[in-house]
Amino acid sequence: MKILAIETSCDETGIALVETNPPAGPDGTVGAGRTFRGGLPRFKIAASLVASQTKIHRPFGGVVPNLAKREHEKNLPILYRRIFGLPAQAGALAKEKKLWNSINLIAVTVGPGLEPALWAGITFAEELAKKYKKPLVGANHLEGHLYSFLLQKKTVISNSQFPISKKLFPAVALIVSGGHTILLKMRNLCEWKKIGETRDDAVGEAYDKVARLLNLPYPGGPEVEKLARSGNPRAIDFPRPMIYHKNYDFSFSGLKTSVRYYVVTHPGADKDTKVKADIAASFQEAALDVLVKKTGRATEETGAKALFVSGGVSINNALRRRFKKEFGKKVQLYFPSRKFCNDNAVMIAVAAYIKFIQGKKYRPAAQANLNM
Ligand code: KG4
Ligand code: ZN
Repeated sequence: MKILAIETSCDETGIALVETNPPAGPDGTVGAGRTFRGGLPRFKIAASLVASQTKIHRPFGGVVPNLAKREHEKNLPILYRRIFGLPAQAGALAKEKKLWNSINLIAVTVGPGLEPALWAGITFAEELAKKYKKPLVGANHLEGHLYSFLLQKKTVISNSQFPISKKLFPAVALIVSGGHTILLKMRNLCEWKKIGETRDDAVGEAYDKVARLLNLPYPGGPEVEKLARSGNPRAIDFPRPMIYHKNYDFSFSGLKTSVRYYVVTHPGADKDTKVKADIAASFQEAALDVLVKKTGRATEETGAKALFVSGGVSINNALRRRFKKEFGKKVQLYFPSRKFCNDNAVMIAVAAYIKFIQGKKYRPAAQANLNM
């Protein structure tokens, strides 16, 4: 089964070709209505392209929705021709048609995300589906991040890495992105319950806002991480919001406000490299303390056998080190391969496929506030 997937929820235009073998049912048939009880699905990434718009949005300090839409509309036909190996301008119609013979499904992100940006991808996918008479299914961007732990290596996941799904479940999943901070308890690959989320800012958003306070360019996460490397994480005692609350919810807006207060009350702090590094390191330490504490309680109280950490912030090395130290010996800890932490279309193919196999799908219409 070959899937063409499209991702345009924010400021990355992603397109991917992903292959997989649908699981067989008890009668040996293949198709909708199957589950993954016998083992986790494996994917072969035939091709994946991502065009980042960060340079375009940087002067504005964040993503401008209509600019993002325009860029997606410009990028999609270019990436589409490139991934199919077609000449840049036009032509090779016969080749294009032949390539479509091998594609079984088109998947596109329907939310959550910026509505104009989402529509750019959906409209493009709809046109292809109509032209080549292929089924089109929507995908939930957050499920894409969740399932990106299945994307461990460049190409195929070996069976030995994921023997039987039962051994991994119950599991806890932590999604840390620019728009979300979510904790899930997973019964299996297809069934979960959201047990906690942020009540205000997402952790990636806090990184981006702190970066702005320190005069660092957008997107701020990687910049704050880099700066924090030379700082002292214990230099400033920033608050750890909700760390002792007996629930799995988060709050990062107060932490960001404390950073702002520190910068305002220490004139020149946002210009002095040493002070900035201490602020970045102390902020990161506070954010990680909260993530570790809440995730630790969730894994203990749910009896989790595995922990899946995903989303843009999961690329952060300090976070990976800390999680390995805290959880590496207690549960099976999985991060996506680094190239699949940030937004991409491979994870969208995976999410759409896992829904499709269960006989479920999202309709292809933008849902900016779609949740899990
Ligand atoms: O998952 P993602 O690409 O997009 C969303 O779905 O939101 O995540 C983007 C977020 C941004 O807030 C960005 O600053 C953050 O991930 N991020 C990082 C790092 N790289 C990206 N945060 C901390 N450390 C990083 N190295
Ligand atoms: Zn994302």
